[in-house]
Amino acid sequence: MNDKLGNWKRTHRCGDVTAEQVGQDICVMGWVQRRRDHGGLIFIDLRDREGVVQLALDPDRDLASHKKAEQVRTEFVIAARGKVSPRPDGTVNPKMKTGEVEIEISELLILNRSETPPFMLDEYTEVAESIRLKYRYLDLRRPALQNNLLMRHLVAKTVRNYLDGQGFIEIETPILTKSTPEGARDYLVPSRVNTGSFYALPQSPQLFKQLLMVSGFDRYFQIVRCFRDEDLRADRQPEFTQIDCELSFVNSDDVMGVMEGLIAQIFTAALGVNISLPMPRLTYAEALDRFGVDNPDLRFSMELIDITQQVAGSAFKVFADVAANKGLVKALNAKGCAAFSRKELDDLTDFVKIYGAKGLAWVKITENGWQSPIAKFFTEDELSALNKSLDAEVGDLLMFMADCPSVANEALGRLRGHLGHKLGLTKKDEYQFVWVTDFPLLEWDGEERRHVAVHHPFTSPLEEDIPLLDTDPGQARAQAYDLVLNGSEIGGGSIRIHDKTVQSRMFSLLGIGEEEAREKFGFLLDALDFGAPPHGGIAFGLDRIMMILTGADSIRDVIAFPKTQKATCLLSDAPNVVADKQLQELGIRLRAKQK
Ligand code: AMO
Ligand code: AMP
Repeated sequence: MNDKLGNWKRTHRCGDVTAEQVGQDICVMGWVQRRRDHGGLIFIDLRDREGVVQLALDPDRDLASHKKAEQVRTEFVIAARGKVSPRPDGTVNPKMKTGEVEIEISELLILNRSETPPFMLDEYTEVAESIRLKYRYLDLRRPALQNNLLMRHLVAKTVRNYLDGQGFIEIETPILTKSTPEGARDYLVPSRVNTGSFYALPQSPQLFKQLLMVSGFDRYFQIVRCFRDEDLRADRQPEFTQIDCELSFVNSDDVMGVMEGLIAQIFTAALGVNISLPMPRLTYAEALDRFGVDNPDLRFSMELIDITQQVAGSAFKVFADVAANKGLVKALNAKGCAAFSRKELDDLTDFVKIYGAKGLAWVKITENGWQSPIAKFFTEDELSALNKSLDAEVGDLLMFMADCPSVANEALGRLRGHLGHKLGLTKKDEYQFVWVTDFPLLEWDGEERRHVAVHHPFTSPLEEDIPLLDTDPGQARAQAYDLVLNGSEIGGGSIRIHDKTVQSRMFSLLGIGEEEAREKFGFLLDALDFGAPPHGGIAFGLDRIMMILTGADSIRDVIAFPKTQKATCLLSDAPNVVADKQLQELGIRLRAKQK
């Protein structure tokens, strides 16, 4: 028992005090957000995770507590008892959840003092992120982050309830393990007992969840930490959390069906938003054709139009040459954007260059027709045909890209996304889901001069594409699916290979020899020999889902203790140097001197 609390017992959270408690004697405990001295009266805004309530201290009611209130500073921890009363006329604060009431304090206890915090812990103050991360425990006291983590808890709870209801069993898999096949760099952990050997932290529980299917668990899930040593972006962390699932005796439709039900439940629980099911689907080929990318944002249209054939015979050499060399010429119509300035157009050109584009041709549709550096290359007939294909009207801005298919698609697709944001077409409270299916099984790695798996080497080809493995493997499609929400890949998975001969064929296509396959995945291959059921699964990025649910711009705002873009923790100062003795025990000598 904490002596300081004595017989004090909290009866309500600050943020839960409402007009319903008027007349009751209650006790609240929390942190002082603000103290205001109004001559005789002192007001304290007291905060806890549910919100803020106003305490009123009147020396005529209780002199001792009023005296104590004079010593109170921001972030002091206090307990207060008193009667809930309606605020006097004209002082009701409609912005506060508790704004109709205040507590007339009759007794006050200072539980702890606080240094002046390095930043104000209210909703309004903008603070540099490095300071927020260093004092993360204070940052987490702020309402915005408290709400994000409370919602994260609600989502995790919803996931467990829903999946339990669907017959899934939560099973933990090892963190100290062997390299997994997700394709990023591994985090390694040296073994002291087996000097010279290393564990890898899992990039996902992929192999173990497949083993659990061989063991007969049938439907597995886990809310699990994954580790990937990769270049970080706004929606990537070196350690992140997956909602990881695997199911036996299912096909792709079964997996997508159960999982879209899960996502719909999450949105109802967290936001009260109704997601209509089934979710729309696009094949990978269609996504690339219409949107240029495999994670299209469907909150707006602005689709890419393939005009390769139309311009193949034109006098504009840039387009005609690309068309003659198996490239793509694609265009999009930014409706109503003909007023873009020269600078804006130059910025868009710079933007597409990030994705390897050589240029971006633009056309403003005016009362007098095409205004564009490339207008002169086209005949009247060609112009009107292009206008028709692109649904061009006065006031529109057309943009054209000619390049090899991968660059033309990606650069124009990214430009489409960029314009969507710039034009305010991407509302945060609109949720457009799409399943992207039938991904290619393999992609060609020009550097290594061999095929690599697009998803991972255990992904099953489409049944009808299996013969292609012998004739034209690059054309084979996979039984793989991603769930995309508002242009963000929130999950991905596949039906796995459970047939030994197909698996061997796959390894040889990937240039993975028998020995290498055994060394890397021998335990899984052995298990597949002992009656592996047909199975498949998916993993969702919980952090990415939370970003969208909370409207956070950074993945760090939905993780209690995140890492920076440089994979460091500013709070604990990890990673850090270790003592020589520890390295010796591990049999490790550093090449470069530690600073
Ligand atoms: P995949 O590699 O596609 O699939 O990962 C699944 C989902 O995890 C999220 N994600 C990340 N989130 C934050 N930071 C990261 N660094 C990060 N990397 C991935 C994404 C992604 O869609 N084992 C397979 C799944 C399966 O086949 O069942 C896998 O891990 O939202
Ligand atoms: P040029 O005649 O080379 O000055 O190019 C005319 C216009 O075509 C300029 O606006 C260039 O940005 C654009 N352009 C050049 N290369 C490409 C390309 N590969 N795709 C689309 N537009 C291009």
